[in-house]
Amino acid sequence: MRLEQRISVFPDAREVGRRLAARVADAIRNQPAIVLGLPTGRTPLLFYEELAALARSGAVDFSRVTTFNLDEFLGLTPEHPSSYRRFMQRYLFDHVNIDPARINFLNGAAADAAAEADRYEHAIAAAGGIDLVILGIGTNGHIGFNEPSSGLEARTHRVTLQPETRRSNAPLFGDDLDAVPLEALSMGMGTILDARAAVLLATGARKASCVERLVTGPITTGLPASFLQLHRDVEIMLDEAAAQRIRS
Ligand code: GLP
Repeated sequence: MRLEQRISVFPDAREVGRRLAARVADAIRNQPAIVLGLPTGRTPLLFYEELAALARSGAVDFSRVTTFNLDEFLGLTPEHPSSYRRFMQRYLFDHVNIDPARINFLNGAAADAAAEADRYEHAIAAAGGIDLVILGIGTNGHIGFNEPSSGLEARTHRVTLQPETRRSNAPLFGDDLDAVPLEALSMGMGTILDARAAVLLATGARKASCVERLVTGPITTGLPASFLQLHRDVEIMLDEAAAQRIRS
């Protein structure tokens, strides 16, 4: 099926979050030991809020769910207040009955980044692979921290962050751009595309242009998200603002 046929547009970002939370809750009910791939960023916040509400109401049970987050800043310990690990604790893990032993994260403070990346790939394989990965998209078309470049890495690896990406992550660091790490660890494009199903979320007008390129443009390493066109089971969930350039 062509990517255009796998796009759902909702009136606003809240509805995107609500629909995705309902979809993930259904997936957990159908497969209680599901393995999820999870994103950070502002976009998934409403999704996490809705999912936490469903968990509080008893509509979803996280006790057997396993999670793997997409990425982490290099040099930050899991306890660092600006780490993605802390972000996830605050916005999702503190609100659901997940077993802490089933939360998997790249350790940004690992002494050997390459060994840490290998460990993560093995952990994903040992868990049986990712069943459902939820993705945001950077304004430059990155997914996870796979930045646009002349070549992409297949597996989990160390990345140099682009200035635009560091700027969009500055709010996590009290808007102090100098405090944003220069590098990160990220699942690779192959790791992401190996997930059995993928959902990409984009909301707001600032994502309209990369959404247009994702949907109508060629598959190119200049827009890493365009590789999702190759996935057999991908869905794109947008609000009206992010969809404005693809609606005639
Ligand atoms: C970060 C994350 C990405 C995320 C992107 C978009 O760079 N590494 O996984 O998709 O931010 O963030 P936002 O949702 O805040 O636009």
